[in-house]
Amino acid sequence: MNQERTFPNWEQLYQEQTVESMPWFNANLDPDIEKTLTKLNLTTGNVLDIGTGPGTQAIILAERGFEVTATDLSETAIQKAAAKVQGKGLNINWQQDDILNSKLQGDFDLIIDRGCFHVLPPESREKYVDLVYDLLKPTAYLLLKCFCYLEAREGGPYKFKPEQIREIFGTKLQIVSIEETVYYGNLDPHPLALFSTMQKA
Ligand SMILES: C[S@@+](CC[C@H](N)C(=O)[O-])C[C@H]1O[C@@H](n2cnc3c(N)ncnc32)[C@H](O)[C@@H]1O
Repeated sequence: MNQERTFPNWEQLYQEQTVESMPWFNANLDPDIEKTLTKLNLTTGNVLDIGTGPGTQAIILAERGFEVTATDLSETAIQKAAAKVQGKGLNINWQQDDILNSKLQGDFDLIIDRGCFHVLPPESREKYVDLVYDLLKPTAYLLLKCFCYLEAREGGPYKFKPEQIREIFGTKLQIVSIEETVYYGNLDPHPLALFSTMQKA
């Protein structure tokens, strides 16, 4: 679970492959995000999508009326996602940004991270939490999807137990819930995942 992982060169990957072929591609809003937005009655506001990749989640949230900032390490990912909705008048600020060396500023009502945190090096986790904390408005939420320790596939992203999420994030954010779920995308069966709802209390 804690063995060191290697990841693709993200920029090269987005240059060489179609986003639709990527394991994490999900054309629809992630059902766990959908359910949580309803539960928390979140219908408007500024959303940050960290590691937006194909941009599907950012696009759907913008179509629903959120003001969205969508970032990714890969410039090509950002360009491809932006091109997909060019001319549609959606309120999306697409930005190439390394979340671990971020230029982002602002007060977000909601931050979503569907699969970025779990590909970051373990030594950067504290920095990630500090940064996300600073970007959230008081009482705002972080919705985080990452692989679960119960996922049996070898390699891939880091996998987490609920208690690890509590330990990593609990110093700064209030853990509202951590649910066992799956990572909706192109893999069959979907990888086992954790979906965490956290609040800047
Ligand atoms: C598993 S993919 C998930 C993509 C997207 N969130 C989705 O749900 O389809 C992880 C994404 O994180 C991006 N990424 C990796 N390291 C990053 C970093 N340091 N800062 C920002 N994005 C990063 C990758 O380029 C990739 O698009």
